[in-house]
Amino acid sequence: MDQHANDRRNFLRIAVVGGVALISGGVGAAGILLPPAAAEAPTTGPRPLVPVLRLGAINKDEPLGLDLSISVRDGWRLRTRRARVFVVRVADGDAAASFKALSGVCPHAGCGIEYKDDDKKFICPCHGAEFDPHGASKEGPSPRDMDPFEVSIAEHQGTAWLHVDWQEFVTGTADRTPKARA
Ligand code: FES
Repeated sequence: MDQHANDRRNFLRIAVVGGVALISGGVGAAGILLPPAAAEAPTTGPRPLVPVLRLGAINKDEPLGLDLSISVRDGWRLRTRRARVFVVRVADGDAAASFKALSGVCPHAGCGIEYKDDDKKFICPCHGAEFDPHGASKEGPSPRDMDPFEVSIAEHQGTAWLHVDWQEFVTGTADRTPKARA
């Protein structure tokens, strides 16, 4: 398998409409399911909770990349934007504390971070920042670790789902400051 194919292997595409995930691509055996009531989810107000994965789909210390398509209501317009999130199982068990969700936006200057399976690390192609599989900064110019999202667990039809509280952060600072929402 070439490197690009290898890097793509862990990426699954989903769409998030008002905070509820919709599967828009093939998901193979990963076991990601479409939750109900996507159309009824709010598009304004508090940060959306994103049902991302059935928990069995995640192996320990193997970050899984998810491309989210997020709809944001901006006055009368509904804008769609892309966002990459990495989900990592950091401990056994199915509690929320067993998982981390990391932003794919580099804290240095906002480029897209990639995970290299072979090297077991995240890298940013722009200026060479490197992070371990849990998002800790290891090398390069990033002023802080990868930005984590809050995660929680919710049940739907007898299956536990991981929810990711997606948001954006200001780049280039040691402090982690959330960006204002549209
Ligand atoms: Fe990632 Fe500069 S934007 S290292």
